[in-house]
Amino acid sequence: PSSDTGTSLKSVFWGTFVHSTCNEAVQVLEDTAVGVDHEGKIVFIKTGEDVQRVSQEVGFNAADVKQLGKHEFFMPGMVDAHIHASQYSFTGTALDLPLLEWLNTYTFPVEAQFEDPEFAKKIYSQVVRRTLRNGTTTACYFATIYTETTLLLAEIADRVGQRALVGKVCMDRNDGASYYKESTEESMRETDKFITQLLGKGYPLVSPIITPRFAPSCTSPLLEFLGKTAKNNDIHVQSHISENRDEVNLVQQLFPDCKSYTDVYLKHGLLSRKTVMAHACYLSDKELEIFHKTGASIAHCPNSNISLCSGMLDVSRVMKHKVKIGLGTDVAGGYAPSMLDAIRRAIDTSKALTILDPKHQTLTFQEVFRLATLGGSQALSLDDQIGNFAVGKNFDALLVNVSVPDGPIDICNEEDPKVILEKFLNLGDDRNIVEVYVAGRRVVPFDNTS
Ligand code: GUN
Ligand code: FE
Repeated sequence: PSSDTGTSLKSVFWGTFVHSTCNEAVQVLEDTAVGVDHEGKIVFIKTGEDVQRVSQEVGFNAADVKQLGKHEFFMPGMVDAHIHASQYSFTGTALDLPLLEWLNTYTFPVEAQFEDPEFAKKIYSQVVRRTLRNGTTTACYFATIYTETTLLLAEIADRVGQRALVGKVCMDRNDGASYYKESTEESMRETDKFITQLLGKGYPLVSPIITPRFAPSCTSPLLEFLGKTAKNNDIHVQSHISENRDEVNLVQQLFPDCKSYTDVYLKHGLLSRKTVMAHACYLSDKELEIFHKTGASIAHCPNSNISLCSGMLDVSRVMKHKVKIGLGTDVAGGYAPSMLDAIRRAIDTSKALTILDPKHQTLTFQEVFRLATLGGSQALSLDDQIGNFAVGKNFDALLVNVSVPDGPIDICNEEDPKVILEKFLNLGDDRNIVEVYVAGRRVVPFDNTS
């Protein structure tokens, strides 16, 4: 007796599932069966029944159910809400200058190399594979100003099997490096071309995102055009905001008619529920209210904020304003292409704020786990599709084994799943991420043909 869903059922997984909901930062579902259809969507979640009964009920062979081992669990794939694919070649280096000098000295010369398709293909393949290997099932990427190789990044993400938003960087102003910028007309034309061509590919996992680099690298007419384009096509927007004090002062000089950094983006129609802004360290309460009202979100990039001595974002203050927030690695301002690192650095920053002010409410590992998964999906307005385990959402998931041979974690006692999760978040690495699924397709271990 197969049910309606049984006919298109592709996989059934059985074991412990750990995820976040809006009400519970960590929810543990033990003895749970999750069914996934051929489109990669979750079709049922059943807790506390036996394998034989559920298999019969859904018309699935009990022998084909994938049973998890004793030290294994599934968690949602992680969402990197802000990463520069084009900076991966120098990740782990060049962390000795503040933002504006860092851009001129290290970043622009490297991004300019991405006019070369061979170089772009090599680096983009590396970053997609590395982040997927580290458990990033969705990445929100900055590429470069070059349309052709930005399309290449989209193609690689889709082929390797990572969900992604991909942005062609727009900048028609660059006093520090005049070799790396576009004319205003060029930036507008190439943005239109990029969106049309990427949408035309029909990649199921990859969408375009409008990407003004940040206010200092764009003129007012360009920002206005990008705001209109985002609205007319109902597509995402990403940029940087209020990362470093010198940058905030520069924006005030460049846009004297705007009340604040946030006001620059607001006035140019760039803030909506599909907008994600990286950093946001120095926003005022008024600016956070604008984020809340427009539905724009924040990508918290703690590794980068510390590495470039930019600032320390107070996440609990952002949450008090009910502003959506996720985590980003910000490679290569952040040196680690790993969301597990972003989780740890987010906790460190929160603890540093508590050292400075004991009244500060320190983030818990449960809250930061939620930021890396459900929070990121909300920040990218993709929470109807991904972020946790729910019927109708995509099965984007990590199979974690905390006890792999020669791995980084020792299991010393019989632990409950919440303790196991905490150990993984603090001590684990890619050796513990034994399988990665995106839209129901197993993408790690890699199929070497991809
Ligand atoms: N602001 C403008 N461009 C960048 C960039 O590439 N990295 C970081 N961290 N901040 C920026
Ligand atoms: Fe960035």
